Amino acid sequence: MTELKNDNYLRALLKQPVDYTPVWMMRQAGRYLPEYRKLRATAGDFMSLCRNAEFACEVTIQPLRRFKLDAAILFSDILTIPDAMGLGLYFETGEGPKFTNPITCKADIEKIGIPDPEDELGYVMNAVRTIRKELNGEVPLIGFSGSPWTLATYMIEGGSSKAFTKIKKMMFSDPQSLHLLLDKLADSVISYLNAQIAAGAQSVMVFDTWGGVLSPRDYKDFSLQYMAKIVDGLTRHADGRQVPVTLFTKNGGMWLEDIAATGCDAVGLDWTIDIENAKARVGDKVALQGNMDPSMLYAPLPRIEQEVAKILASYGTGGTGHVFNLGHGIHPDVKPEHAGHFIESVHRLSKQYHL
Ligand code: CP3
Repeated sequence: MTELKNDNYLRALLKQPVDYTPVWMMRQAGRYLPEYRKLRATAGDFMSLCRNAEFACEVTIQPLRRFKLDAAILFSDILTIPDAMGLGLYFETGEGPKFTNPITCKADIEKIGIPDPEDELGYVMNAVRTIRKELNGEVPLIGFSGSPWTLATYMIEGGSSKAFTKIKKMMFSDPQSLHLLLDKLADSVISYLNAQIAAGAQSVMVFDTWGGVLSPRDYKDFSLQYMAKIVDGLTRHADGRQVPVTLFTKNGGMWLEDIAATGCDAVGLDWTIDIENAKARVGDKVALQGNMDPSMLYAPLPRIEQEVAKILASYGTGGTGHVFNLGHGIHPDVKPEHAGHFIESVHRLSKQYHL
């Protein structure tokens, strides 16, 4: 077993005692940091950062040099899988991700294969191995993937979307084809995350950014079912330690019981649900990650601190099982010192709950 100097994040996910509430931030490596923008300019573009293990490692570590974060997250993207499936991922400035060959029909889905994680996605595994070496046991490394539903939205819409009309058209007119795609994606995610774990990821998180645009029944059929398949297929023990699994459905607060029932270790919460309510509903089964509104980081420092105190009090004294985070990714125009104050406040104010 590799020694870890700070394992509070892994311990909290497994509901083991900790000295303080661990904290990390979704999108903690990114454009709000000037050193990130500088390296991205050197690399040329975002995917060149991801494909170069030294660059990916450097941007993963950048936020840890500034802040006492309790975990590092692999610098990559959820859209690496569709790219490896041949869809041709590219980023247009200011417009987010796009695909040159989006999925338009059943035949497109039938010809898709499961990418080999050490081949087409080998650059991601190289990044994981490089980052683990560089972290030198300071904090755990989080691996991640998108959920099948969320990946499918980008693959069928051809990029970001507001109304999701193309994928919903397929969902309601040709559900079998969509299920075939989601099943191939679930198999791809299982092999991708297991390869990340074999390469050194010490916990994994599945981002279901768009599950919340579905009706309750459709959420279970088209998103949760496939995340449950992933949870069942993952390596849950590696290097003498448990590998905790976190599922995050944005806007999924009404389905917490169902998400917890998949057998995951932790559920990520956005800010539209009270963490006290979430804990009362599923806190005996899973740990909770969240859930400050990322826009709170625009507020003056005392207001940020007050919000941290409220969320900590709301989770309360009932033991461990809380990983503090934002309810979604940090915004690119947040001042780094506001992020720093947020992290420091979580550490300082949470000690009283872990005596
Ligand atoms: O959290 C981290 O620091 C790790 C890195 C990470 C990125 N993307 C880097 C990134 C993670 C975990 C992701 C996940 C991701 N990517 C999700 C799920 C989480 C979420 O935010 O809901 C989604 C939906 C994507 C797809 C994606 N990638 C979008 C929509 C965009 C454009 C975002 C934007 O604000 O322009 C990306 C690009 C991307 N992925 C950036 C980063 C740092 C910005 C790239 C840049 O311009 O430098």
